[in-house]
Amino acid sequence: MSAPTRFPLGRPARLAVFASGRGSNLQSLLHAFPAGHELASVVLVVSNRPDATALDRARAAGVVAVHVPWPTRADFEAAANGLLSQHGVDVVCLAGFMRLLSAGFTERWAGRLVNVHPSLLPDFPGLDAHGQAIAAGVKESGCTVHLVDAGVDSGPVILQRKVPVLPGDDAEALAGRVLAVEHEAYPAAVRLLLTGAWRHDDLGETG
Ligand code: GRF
Repeated sequence: MSAPTRFPLGRPARLAVFASGRGSNLQSLLHAFPAGHELASVVLVVSNRPDATALDRARAAGVVAVHVPWPTRADFEAAANGLLSQHGVDVVCLAGFMRLLSAGFTERWAGRLVNVHPSLLPDFPGLDAHGQAIAAGVKESGCTVHLVDAGVDSGPVILQRKVPVLPGDDAEALAGRVLAVEHEAYPAAVRLLLTGAWRHDDLGETG
């Protein structure tokens, strides 16, 4: 295995975002890391869905937006890795990317692959995090930005933001409250990673 990437890079990082749908977290990353930003810029957006609003958002921001089909995971990952190399990408951000990547992909991008999940992990991983939270009767939920490993929503946590679960909340009401903090948390977590302010010892880094 190659040596882990050390942050800060000493130059602006090149970010790719993988998104499957609406792309509101992508929008917050595009806003935080535009072309010419000293810390990082989003240079590539990839979607497994041709009709994803995320692709429109990227194009509107002047960022390369590519639909990469998912006939099989291996096909998607081979094409995506080709694009990531071609665009010199340093860090991949998953933002509403509704597919599971292989252990091979997550190992290749270890320490440089980030996700946002709409719960306070390790609680409520996987699908329908808000429905799970409501069903469990918790008083607090939130979002987690974490490095991606081979498990489902299981990698090292970079940061979390909490919101209250209010009486009468359904999954939709909770989702809206959590989404608002995701939009602040995701760029903040990427900043922590890229500046070297947050490090994970298991990746061979020293703090
Ligand atoms: C977000 O809540 C994200 O945490 C989850 O899916 C949603 C995607 O929203 N994984 P958007 O596409 O970023 O608007």
